Amino acid sequence: MYPSSISIYEVGPRDGLQNERPVAMRDKVQLINHLANAGLKRIEAGSFVSAKWVPQMADSAAVLGQITRHAGVRYSALTPNLAGFEAALAAGVDEVAVFTAASESFCQRNINCSIQESITRFAPLMKQAKLVGIPVRGYVSCVLGCPYEGYIAPTQVAAVAQELLQLGVYEISLGDTIGVGTPLKARNMLDTVASKVPVAQLALHFHDTYGQALANILACLDAGITTLDTAVAGLGGCPYARGASGNLATEDLVYMLHGLGIQTGVDLPNLARAGAQISQILKRNNGSKVGQVLATE
Ligand code: HMG
Ligand code: MG
Repeated sequence: MYPSSISIYEVGPRDGLQNERPVAMRDKVQLINHLANAGLKRIEAGSFVSAKWVPQMADSAAVLGQITRHAGVRYSALTPNLAGFEAALAAGVDEVAVFTAASESFCQRNINCSIQESITRFAPLMKQAKLVGIPVRGYVSCVLGCPYEGYIAPTQVAAVAQELLQLGVYEISLGDTIGVGTPLKARNMLDTVASKVPVAQLALHFHDTYGQALANILACLDAGITTLDTAVAGLGGCPYARGASGNLATEDLVYMLHGLGIQTGVDLPNLARAGAQISQILKRNNGSKVGQVLATE
């Protein structure tokens, strides 16, 4: 049975904009405010990582300081270590996310350490977050394939997810980072992970490189999943995968879910305006098919 509602975790301002040309701080602030106005309740607003690695996110503290806070909206940020957590906390985040991978090679290139070392780095962050009452989300990348290693065993994804759970994250987002998954593989991976981690604590994060993201979601939607990650206008890409596109567009997901009678709390025309506006600012094609249609209405 499909769920009656889905919680959308909007990653456009982070996963999207970290892979786009630099955007002015005021445009990021406007985008985040627009997303909250459209009814999104969980927005990943920035990232507290090394500016040498990801210059696009260097102004995350300033962005968080400028947005108009909407009651009931949780603004979060990526934090790879304790230093990032402390900076995010000072900037006023409601929630943070740690991130590792199911692939050793990807983990090494993305955060410069092994999977095991990444978990060790998260431990002091988790302790501090618990002390100050900040919820921590966890990401596992490369759950359906790695740009360096190719096939990733679902049991390996489950093992990493289990470690994050034991560390104390409240939710684990399973990322098809390079968007290579197909529906049966996605469902098989989810079922394998769900045999180790309660499905209510899992989220799915599909990039749409091969146009499979909606199909993957549909194949997983009756497994007990209630949280999905998407990016407005399908923003983003992946520096590690040639031709890789961004996350599934939020507009496309909302259109499908509403069509299935599943509530999201999102006002689609309003969301589509936010997507059209940021696409225009970036001078790129709108990565949402639904957004392209609604923009002409
Ligand atoms: P490191 O290179 O291993 O070395 O960094 P370090 O710890 O010695 O730090 C290097 C420099 O970064 C030092 O500065 C540190 O002070 C600084 P320097 O002395 O050279 O001037 N530094 C920091 N600066 C700001 N904030 C921090 C911080 N920590 C250290 N928190 C580190 C390790 C993880 C920081 C680095 O590798 C990094 O920032 N990597 C960026 C990774 C990243 O953001 N990737 C993209 C996001 S992941 C993703 O998109 C996937 C996801 O969407 C899910 C999916 O699709 O699969 C989540
Ligand atoms: Mg991603």
